[in-house]
Amino acid sequence: MTHYIKYAVLGIVFASNSLAWNNGVQKAPAMGFNTWNRFACNINETLIRDTATQMKNLGFLAAGYSYINIDDCWNTKARDVNGLLVPDATKFPNGMKNLTDFLHDLGFKAGEDQGITTCAGFAGSLNHELTDARTFVNWGFDYIKVNRCNILPTGSFQGTNEARFKRWTDALEQVQAETGKMLFYSLVEWSSFDAWVWGPNVSNSWRMYDDIQPNWPRITQILNNASFIGNFSNFYGHNDLDMLENGNGALTLAEQRSHFTAWALAKSPLLIGTDVSKLSQDAITILTNPEIIAINQDTAIGEPLKPFFWGKNPDNTWDPTFPAQYWSGYYKDQKHTAVMYLNFNERTVDLNFTFSHSPHLRADKKYTVRDLWKHQDKGIFGSFFFDGSIPSHDVRAYIFTEQV
Ligand SMILES: *[C@@H]1O[C@H](CO)[C@@H](O)[C@H](O)[C@H]1NC(C)=O
Ligand SMILES: *[C@@H]1O[C@H](CO)[C@@H](O)[C@H](O)[C@H]1NC(C)=O
Ligand SMILES: *[C@@H]1O[C@H](CO)[C@@H](O)[C@H](O)[C@H]1NC(C)=O
Ligand SMILES: *[C@@H]1O[C@H](CO)[C@@H](O)[C@H](O)[C@H]1NC(C)=O
Ligand SMILES: *[C@@H]1O[C@H](CO)[C@@H](O)[C@H](O)[C@H]1NC(C)=O
Ligand SMILES: *[C@@H]1O[C@H](CO)[C@@H](O)[C@H](O)[C@H]1NC(C)=O
Repeated sequence: MTHYIKYAVLGIVFASNSLAWNNGVQKAPAMGFNTWNRFACNINETLIRDTATQMKNLGFLAAGYSYINIDDCWNTKARDVNGLLVPDATKFPNGMKNLTDFLHDLGFKAGEDQGITTCAGFAGSLNHELTDARTFVNWGFDYIKVNRCNILPTGSFQGTNEARFKRWTDALEQVQAETGKMLFYSLVEWSSFDAWVWGPNVSNSWRMYDDIQPNWPRITQILNNASFIGNFSNFYGHNDLDMLENGNGALTLAEQRSHFTAWALAKSPLLIGTDVSKLSQDAITILTNPEIIAINQDTAIGEPLKPFFWGKNPDNTWDPTFPAQYWSGYYKDQKHTAVMYLNFNERTVDLNFTFSHSPHLRADKKYTVRDLWKHQDKGIFGSFFFDGSIPSHDVRAYIFTEQV
């Protein structure tokens, strides 16, 4: 969604999210589809049904993409006489319950976007949170995305961002007490650049940057910001790097591979945002790589991969065009380490790093190394890892397994 207003930029306070709101929904990041990036307001129930059917037929559901999310523009500008939200009857002639029943029958879960008024100006939820939470549960939804659009100057809420979004947390808990049903809660907040600090207390995922765009410079900007806030992301509460642009714009296959790998290993939600009927087989193969998805969906280690060596730049350098290149994190247990390397150069370069740079690798141990894109075991390595040349804007990802 585009956003209209920005205000105060706050300082960053680093802390881990051990106090995260654990609502029991989605320990690992959410995976699925969202309408916005490709279709914006041009949505209807036929599109949703066809997309879900294709997602199942193309293997996305089996790969883990289980949520089908309707973004903005599904409802009317006014509430009904009872104060309830009203789906647009032209776009959704059979209503929302009919659609979520269809999705559930296929094996998916269903999600919906809501705002204060919504970003595109439709009826929103500020001061209606409890009513709307009940409505979404009645309609059979499993996932709610709440946007911060139109807070000012028309918004009437004067409290902090956290307090505003916590109204939804409280409403969801109330509806759970009434019905037994808890929704996944995704929040979108761009104004204060600190959602990762309080987001874990109130939601399951929080956006951490402006809207994504289908181009390489935007992807490196988002990744650069994300590289400094990995500590805030863990089980049940994840930094949301925004919906995937695979299949959109002019992203090359190397860039799509890098985008997908970086989002997955930063443990972002993975929401496909394109016309799935137009995806090439190569693009589908990228999005369904089971060895990359397994790291994103790890239920033993919640922390994302984090940079351990910036590469071209000195460590901890802020660079929106050239973020950190070498990332690592444990996978499954402390004997397995996932490593990611991204080539932001405009030319092919060699990959080589020493184990002592990573807090997740031991310089005194040997490791078997598996390449997660070539799906090959590469042999046994000690003290450093050299893997030859990597094309411009491409990525490598590995699992290092410690030898006993
Ligand atoms: C539904 O939306 C899709 C995608 O925007 C569009 O191609 C199609 O024409 C729409 N169908 C109807 C019946 O409006
Ligand atoms: C949805 O509505 C259509 C048209 O009334 C009907 O044919 C279909 O069976 C309904 N689907 C579900 C899952 O209720
Ligand atoms: C999160 O909630 C806990 C428990 O209520 C509280 O102690 C902590 O200060 C909150 N953290 C933030 C960043 O709001
Ligand atoms: C990226 O991070 C920097 C430093 O914290 C901050 O000033 C900037 O506003 C952030 N940008 C976005 C879009 O979040
Ligand atoms: C993240 O946490 C680790 C371990 O607690 C710490 O060493 C590191 O400095 C933290 N990073 C940031 C950017 O705060
Ligand atoms: C890779 O780095 C190691 C350790 O610094 C070094 O010994 C080795 O020669 C390097 N290999 C290549 C091919 O650059």
